[in-house]
Amino acid sequence: MAILINEQTLTFTLQTRSTSYQMAVDEHGVLLHTYYGASIDPEDDLRELIVRSDMGFSGNPPEAGSDRTYSLDTLPQELPSSGVGDYREDMIRLRHADGSMAADFRFESWEVLPAAQPIPGLPALYGDEQEPGETLILTLKEKASSVKVKLYYGIFEKENVITRSAVILGGGTAPVQLEKALSCCLDFQHEELDMIYFSGRHAMERTLRRVPVGFARTEIGSIRGTSSHQLNPGVILCTPGADEEHGLCWGMLFVYSGCFTAAVQKGQRCGTRAVMGIHPDWFSFTLEPGEQFCTPQVILSCSDQGLGALSRQYHDVIREHLCRGAWKHAQRPVLINNWEATYFDFDEEKILSLGRQAAGLGIEMLVLDDGWFGKRDGDTSGLGDWVVNEKKMGGSIGQLAAKLHGMGLKFGIWFEPEMISEDSDLFRAHPDWAIRIPGREPNRGRCQLVLDMSRKEIRDYLLDRISAVLEESQADYVKWDMNRSVCDLYSSALPAERSGELFHRYMLGVYELLERLLQRFPDLLLEGCSGGGGRFDAGMLYYSPQIWCSDNADAINRLQIQYGTSFFYPVSAMGAHVAVVPGFRERRSVPLKTRADVAMSGSFGYELDLSKLDKEDLEQIPGQIALFKQCYALTHEGDYYRLCMNDRMSAWGFAAKDRTSAMVTVVMTEAEANPLPVYLPLRGLDPDKRYRCSLTGTIRSGRSWERAGLALPQTPGQYESLVITFEQTED
Ligand code: DGJ
Repeated sequence: MAILINEQTLTFTLQTRSTSYQMAVDEHGVLLHTYYGASIDPEDDLRELIVRSDMGFSGNPPEAGSDRTYSLDTLPQELPSSGVGDYREDMIRLRHADGSMAADFRFESWEVLPAAQPIPGLPALYGDEQEPGETLILTLKEKASSVKVKLYYGIFEKENVITRSAVILGGGTAPVQLEKALSCCLDFQHEELDMIYFSGRHAMERTLRRVPVGFARTEIGSIRGTSSHQLNPGVILCTPGADEEHGLCWGMLFVYSGCFTAAVQKGQRCGTRAVMGIHPDWFSFTLEPGEQFCTPQVILSCSDQGLGALSRQYHDVIREHLCRGAWKHAQRPVLINNWEATYFDFDEEKILSLGRQAAGLGIEMLVLDDGWFGKRDGDTSGLGDWVVNEKKMGGSIGQLAAKLHGMGLKFGIWFEPEMISEDSDLFRAHPDWAIRIPGREPNRGRCQLVLDMSRKEIRDYLLDRISAVLEESQADYVKWDMNRSVCDLYSSALPAERSGELFHRYMLGVYELLERLLQRFPDLLLEGCSGGGGRFDAGMLYYSPQIWCSDNADAINRLQIQYGTSFFYPVSAMGAHVAVVPGFRERRSVPLKTRADVAMSGSFGYELDLSKLDKEDLEQIPGQIALFKQCYALTHEGDYYRLCMNDRMSAWGFAAKDRTSAMVTVVMTEAEANPLPVYLPLRGLDPDKRYRCSLTGTIRSGRSWERAGLALPQTPGQYESLVITFEQTED
């Protein structure tokens, strides 16, 4: 049993393999948070950790009478009240019919369900036969109105994961306005904490940042309509000394692809409150009596073994309980994408010759990127007209795909469904389908406008068009791109007082379309993309088990991007390709071997004009594909270890779950004359098994490899790389 309830004291303890999360209802019905950390004995009630004192200027609710030590402003809470004397971050803000804004939630009832619960219309972790999950639902009622909130706690014991989400229920006879509807609040009572988050920009996503949590509020978020390149919707809190292998750390990962906030702040008693959810800016939602609003899910995880273990817990739960469908564990095909090979400048013959050469080298799928449809020879026109340009492609999409299939290749195709070009037949027919404000000229991003995905008729059109192309071409894969941020919020389909609902309804619409597409094409492999990693989040991973990690395929920049990405997301989720050098962005030349070694720690492919490679490079490709396949079980199903990331080099490794093999990749990023030797730490080996190292041929026990490490016989030069494997041996 992962959920333990003391019905007398109303104490709820959620137990995972090695963590505990505890809540308790106090004498006034407030749901307190008492503990989250390494496992405790579940019969122990930790509410005594909450020390009450009269703080001054922290007022008291009426039921506290003359007890000035009881204040909502100082208690650690699961669902903090709003507008009634807790001056810290709130989670749910209501505007009642009379204009008042108080929201004071008190415990009403509990319920346990023996499985993980889906969230209507939203992505969420799911249970399966091996691990169905368990759910605790706590219902709280707003003190002076009929609004109720159901707090959902899902438990995935094996992965040390607890999920949180909330359902807000309208009641009574009048609508209530939701002004803020976050998913999760985590109160820490005394710990000094660091906050880790991941920031960046287009083509340089997810750089790790670490700051001490202080009294100044630190907030990350997005109001771009997507989770964004700029800040990823995941936060780690950890003890200041925490590193890869030591220290307490807690992760909060948002399963949502739209606007979000995550705010962390130390309070006057030095405790920290962290909240996460849909960004309250540009958000409001009208809840009629009897209606409900579901918040997206937050995946919480905790480790007292450092950041590496925390990441592995996220990788496991994402791979097992978020990614779905035929491609969850199936080996993903090695692909060639024509985008960086041709950009818009291609025709049938160019694609077929790229395919022919790729097939000859052992590449398994050709992805036809942007430019195959409508009038689309540049980025100013054509989006929305999802009909093949037969003149450019020399015939129908079915004919082209059949020729590629005939070469033994799978066929993948690019769409950017959520967009519309003003110069398109679709826009000429339906100018009101674009999001823009009547009477104002719209702002453009990459010369294009955004479709109002909240509207069903638009989604129906897209599903029809995409399905027709997929059916005709028998496509195996779709790259689902999204190339601008959203602004000029207005939907002609929403009444004025509901205009604050558009951002969220947009996301619900995107998810609904993705779901319908996958139901119609259950074997389709989807790759998410938003100008690379602008929507690299757990929400999209529910639909697309891989996402193009970044438009920057420079192997050296990718070290940092893939490193930052790895804190929450598994390698199987990261689309990573070998691209041409020098890249036009950073103008750097990196050997083909290094480009491949970095990309194969991802969902692997090539994205360059093969006809321009020299003979030696071409000859390497079959071996690279073979190595990727040899290591696939390690990279895509194994445990991942960040080993080293400094100015000189980057190294990471994988170990098989059954500990029969492991691998390490190392890339030198800064060479020196008279180089110093390189010593690599190794992780994930069974201390009592013996392993042979592919580089040195040496055999040692896992214990010796882990404790003594590996000395590279020769220090690699600038931008050189090595992939070293360790196989268990009986020798
Ligand atoms: C942005 C993507 O990230 C690229 O890979 C490519 O598909 C272009 N869009 C095409 O317009």
